[in-house]
Amino acid sequence: MNISIFYEKQDPYKTIKDLTYQIGNVGVELKESNQNREDIDIAAFTYNDAKYIRREIQINNEDIYFLYIYINVYAENIKELEYYLNKVEGIAQSKGMQTRRANFRQEELYLSTLPIMKNSEVLKEVAKRNILTSGLVATYPFISSSIFDEKGIFIGTNIYNNSLVFIDRYDTNKYKNANICIFGTSGAGKSFYTKLLILRYRLLGIKQYIIDPEREYGHLCDSIKGTQIKIGPNSKTYINILDIRKESIEEGESRIFSNKNRKTCRIF
Ligand SMILES: Nc1ncnc2c1ncn2[C@@H]1O[C@H](COP(=O)(O)OP(=O)(O)OP(=O)(O)O)[C@@H](O)[C@H]1O
Ligand SMILES: [Mg+2]
Repeated sequence: MNISIFYEKQDPYKTIKDLTYQIGNVGVELKESNQNREDIDIAAFTYNDAKYIRREIQINNEDIYFLYIYINVYAENIKELEYYLNKVEGIAQSKGMQTRRANFRQEELYLSTLPIMKNSEVLKEVAKRNILTSGLVATYPFISSSIFDEKGIFIGTNIYNNSLVFIDRYDTNKYKNANICIFGTSGAGKSFYTKLLILRYRLLGIKQYIIDPEREYGHLCDSIKGTQIKIGPNSKTYINILDIRKESIEEGESRIFSNKNRKTCRIF
């Protein structure tokens, strides 16, 4: 599914004016009306809510926003769609959130969930909710009590709260150095994770050096057009110009050193 969240900041001055007007009206209604009226409790609720919002704006410096949340659910067929819809509605309602299907407005909703910043006017009136800054913060999907380094790369999700974990190992303000240690049972995915890290850091333009005695990273290196350097007496690649080479640089001479001085090679 796709979820799209819109916020619209409201003018606090106008909001306070409107609220004060409503508070006045409802206040009078509460005093004068028959206390047995059916909707008297609801009126009392609205009265208190309005007062709460006004107080927060005036005293605690909060801002008021309109919040719109659209959820677009996909499926292969109608039956599956109905199943997913019920599931999403169930989850939302169990958390005390009202949901409403966009019957006959599916197209508008679809457009509103595309990343084109289009909040359909038709849906707005129905989907609008008031929210204060402190509540709005909680709707931000990338916030978490776990590790979230701004320039970090995505590592995975936190198993306790499903929040996303981003780590920037090279942040010297936060970490003493970039060393990491990976533990796991055999086949748990240690190598997989390491390769993922290498690829993602490479995408960020960070040079990666791999020491690979088990010849595990050859494919990875080739696929990102890296350079492989084999070090050994018979290898064709050299990292040090003073290395003992397989072929002599001089014409006509070959393997002089490596054949005669195997032991010396190892010491090197
Ligand atoms: N996050 C992941 N998503 C999908 N597949 C994964 C993931 N992590 C690991 N795998 C798969 O699990 C298998 C084992 O992973 P890997 O070789 O990385 O394990 P390992 O911990 O390095 O094992 P060993 O200790 O034997 O070296 C691989 O086939 C890998 O493709
Ligand atoms: Mg491994």
